[in-house]
Amino acid sequence: MTPANPAMELTDAPDDEFKVDVHNGLAQSPKRIPSKYFYDARGSELFEQICEQPEYYLTRTELEVLQKNASDIAAAIGPRAVLVEYGSGAGIKTRLLLDAMSEPVGYVPVEISTSALSASVESLAEEFPDVDMLPVAADFTQPVDLPSPEQDAQRTVIFFPGSTLGNFEQRDAIGLLRTMCIEMGANGSAIVGIDLKKDTAILEAAYNDAAGVTRDFTLNLLTRINRELDGDFDLAQFEHRARYNALAGRIETHIVSRIDQTASVGGERHAFAEGEAMLVEYSCKYSQEEFASMAAKAGLRVVRTWMDPERWFAVQMLERA
Ligand code: AVI
Repeated sequence: MTPANPAMELTDAPDDEFKVDVHNGLAQSPKRIPSKYFYDARGSELFEQICEQPEYYLTRTELEVLQKNASDIAAAIGPRAVLVEYGSGAGIKTRLLLDAMSEPVGYVPVEISTSALSASVESLAEEFPDVDMLPVAADFTQPVDLPSPEQDAQRTVIFFPGSTLGNFEQRDAIGLLRTMCIEMGANGSAIVGIDLKKDTAILEAAYNDAAGVTRDFTLNLLTRINRELDGDFDLAQFEHRARYNALAGRIETHIVSRIDQTASVGGERHAFAEGEAMLVEYSCKYSQEEFASMAAKAGLRVVRTWMDPERWFAVQMLERA
């Protein structure tokens, strides 16, 4: 860890990364665009709404696991820890952990969006005046130099809830677990939320909610491309499709063209055949054994697991193997 940047300067990611990824993705066959681009302001708002849909069990189940086991988790973390969160935290889960932890000394959200970061630390600073707020504007998938709190910390705990790990392909998920292994230090730990394998019908319902919020969330990617990259996608001519691939153990979300058509992005034309599917998200589902073996490949071992009674969602604590 290095000393915190006293000016807390936050800089956004280069603008053209989105452009490059979209152009490359549309040139591939099959076409694909990374799911991280779902989260513009509207996408983040729609994701919040997804979390409240009755079919989307992930958020409420993880929250229930964290609530029921908060004191046990806090005891496993131990006193005077620094909580590092991958992604913009400051939600109810972060508060719950910070509240349960014994004398937490620092909170380090690592998030690419500076506005989400500022909002996150501002609200937490008031509630946790004794915790050093040390936001880092960075892509958490790349190793970052974590700032040190002013107070002495006993260990670093990386918090990665929500089964966001499942949005990475296996190779990248192991890479991210490896980054955690480095960043947690010799006596650190990580607390990772993962969605477990279950009935296909339950999984598919979660990604095809009756109110159509997930559909709007998926198609908002095209709206974002139209606005930011000078695109002309006609949203009425595309549909959301989310299906469980049991062999691969993941929900695969595609944007499917309803007709033969072309769409232009920044002056470049791209042809879509009727029924052509563009991959926009994987949401991987794990068995406990699969997750433990991925963790082992990253030099980590599962030391504790907390689950709901139906075993739909697991909160795993990892340490260096
Ligand atoms: C953020 N992530 C874990 C969500 C998921 O379940 O894969 C994103 C999401 N996509 C559609 N619904 C929710």
